[in-house]
Amino acid sequence: MTSFLKTTDISIDGARTLSREYYTSPEIFGEELEHIFLRRWLCAGREDRLTNPGDYFLAEVGRESVLVLKDRDGGYRAFYNVCRHRGTRLCEEHAGNLGPNIQCPYHAWTYGLDGHLIGAPSTADLEHFDKAEWPLFPVAVASWEGFLFINLAERPEPFEEAWSTLSGRFSRFNLPNLKVARTIDYDVKANWKLLFQNYSECYHCGPVHPALSRLTPPTSGENDLTEGPFTGGFMVMTRGAESMTMSGKSCGVAVGDLPEEDMTRVYYYAIFPNMLLSLHPDYVMFHTLWPRGTDRTFIRCSWLFHPATLGDPTFNPDDGVEFWDMTNRQDWHICEQSQLGVESRAYRPGPYSRRESLSAQFDREVLRSLGR
Ligand code: FES
Ligand SMILES: [Fe+2]
Repeated sequence: MTSFLKTTDISIDGARTLSREYYTSPEIFGEELEHIFLRRWLCAGREDRLTNPGDYFLAEVGRESVLVLKDRDGGYRAFYNVCRHRGTRLCEEHAGNLGPNIQCPYHAWTYGLDGHLIGAPSTADLEHFDKAEWPLFPVAVASWEGFLFINLAERPEPFEEAWSTLSGRFSRFNLPNLKVARTIDYDVKANWKLLFQNYSECYHCGPVHPALSRLTPPTSGENDLTEGPFTGGFMVMTRGAESMTMSGKSCGVAVGDLPEEDMTRVYYYAIFPNMLLSLHPDYVMFHTLWPRGTDRTFIRCSWLFHPATLGDPTFNPDDGVEFWDMTNRQDWHICEQSQLGVESRAYRPGPYSRRESLSAQFDREVLRSLGR
């Protein structure tokens, strides 16, 4: 049985917001890439982006580009997007189909979908050159609930261990079988941490999200994960509201076999360091965050529905998509304003309220990851 805590029951212990350099310093940004984004498991998107052998997409992690693909046997693999000859990027397009193998555009070295070098023109007369010794550099891949994860660490923590807290936690939401109805990309002029902190509290919901606050009172709900890299819980919809949509009505069939209590709740989980998972009775939204600089983050947001919803014209998935696209933009805007304010010479760390205990917990996770 999962136990839940009110956000305000969690000790805040005098926590203050991070100091300015965490939002402005290229050195700290570099450390975050090194110790967090190049070390932890990152959500790269849904498995069904790759349906046929040779299908691929690119994931950009800091300065690194990773090729995520489906191999001949239907398995998922990932490689650095770097040729073993002179290092050139193998793929430029963000997604597509590679065909039966991967060919470098520079001198046509060719790799199998399993990463092995299978062709290298005019190398037969090279001494001490064995193609078997020049495969693409692999990146670890894992799949969980229909999502693909990558890890660029040399010795990644096994995914099952890293994800043990979450394993089985969302089974009732039927995540592997849901289908993406819409994806919207956002280019946000704010540090990635401001976006994570923002997602982790609803203290801002009254002032920033009037429509959301009508559907779920900002102080409603409880948290079941309050420590460590994964935090979150649920909020409760007001009587008469069926989902988080423009109309307040539900916009699809239930995503899974949900108990009665879940039909009036929205669950929000911040999954360190790059995934935000929001589970509604009739759809699931997930964000992936990709830091681009101290004051820049690329965000991809997708909405997942039960296939029965998408095949039924009486449902209008856009009702949910529009609601969150509006709410997302409200969040990004206030985070951009926050970025600008925090950059000021006048800014000093401020006190977190008890309603921001999960934001404070997120900051601790960042600091712990950086060894501070
Ligand atoms: S750099 Fe790729 S084949 Fe030369
Ligand atoms: Fe918000």
